[in-house]
Amino acid sequence: METKLEVTEILKRYSKDIDQEINSALETVDPETLRQASEHLVKAGGKKLRPSLAVLSAEAVGGEVKCALKTGAAVELIHTFSLIHDDIMDQDDKRRGKPSVHILWGEPMAILAGDTLFSKAFASVMKSEDDGVSPERILPALNTVVDSCVKICEGQALDMGFAGRMDVSEEEYLMMIFKKTAALIAAATKSGAILGGGTPEQVEALAEYGRLIGMAFQIQDDYLDVASNEEDLGKPVGSDIVEGKMTLLVVNALSKANDEDRQRLLTILKEEGDTNVPEAVEIMEKYGSIQYAWKVAQEDVNQAKQSLDILDDSPAKDALLRIADFVLERSH
Ligand code: IPE
Ligand code: IPE
Ligand code: MG
Ligand code: MG
Ligand code: MG
Repeated sequence: METKLEVTEILKRYSKDIDQEINSALETVDPETLRQASEHLVKAGGKKLRPSLAVLSAEAVGGEVKCALKTGAAVELIHTFSLIHDDIMDQDDKRRGKPSVHILWGEPMAILAGDTLFSKAFASVMKSEDDGVSPERILPALNTVVDSCVKICEGQALDMGFAGRMDVSEEEYLMMIFKKTAALIAAATKSGAILGGGTPEQVEALAEYGRLIGMAFQIQDDYLDVASNEEDLGKPVGSDIVEGKMTLLVVNALSKANDEDRQRLLTILKEEGDTNVPEAVEIMEKYGSIQYAWKVAQEDVNQAKQSLDILDDSPAKDALLRIADFVLERSH
């Protein structure tokens, strides 16, 4: 409980500066409708985990907060773009406690709003020069962020392709979540370390930390989809089962279940509309799949923390270690 509160404080520490960067990136968007659609989820809030990770990574290698603020904002813009498009793809009508962008403005405008945030992200990274960051650091940071965007698209394509398949392996699942979720979190920590002037060894350690907490983050997201409630999450629960998504819980349960339970779970996943989520959860519980997913995620968190061993002690390093635990403690 105590750790959760502290992390909330850590995340709040940078949110004003980050918000300012995001707002200034979007204020010139025209016409008005596109600007409103683009700003909708930004205004709705969000944990701001990724920009905080970028800034903390810069600080953890001895850099200043300022050098990573615009790239932190960029990563949050990319994340928000991916959420707008994800809600269209997953047909989810709620995000951050508000109606999804496509519910309010329709799919065509939501696609454009996502594209706008995506494009503004790169402008934001490049503007780091205004904060005194050298092009020698901006270029590799930009490269890192660009690479993660390609991975998000690849991961989202795998995620869609897995729905409806019944033979997805754990290895395939892990590659999919690395691409759709962990790559951007790793880009946040890696670009932050680059902008902060980290050595190649420090940059790699922070990239690895980001990748590993990113993996755990998505496994926890899959778990919360069946274990939490809409009010806490700010987005629909049970959506993965309705959409027939291959989460670690499902992949594991399908690999262990007897023929009857396996067929029943596959039928629930294939059903249209409101499906029998509690029964699916019952099958996952019966085969220990929830416990199993938790173990995999916990192992990622432990390894993430170990990868920071090479960094000198600092308040920023302490914050990163706390955030690693928070990934699995969080309830939204
Ligand atoms: C949700 O991310 C999407 C995933 C990658 C699982 P967050 O849980 O960080 O969403 P916000 O930004 O706090 O709304
Ligand atoms: C999120 O996966 C991955 C993205 C790149 C947006 P989900 O589809 O599980 O995210 P939520 O649960 O809708 O936030
Ligand atoms: Mg989704
Ligand atoms: Mg999705
Ligand atoms: Mg999810």
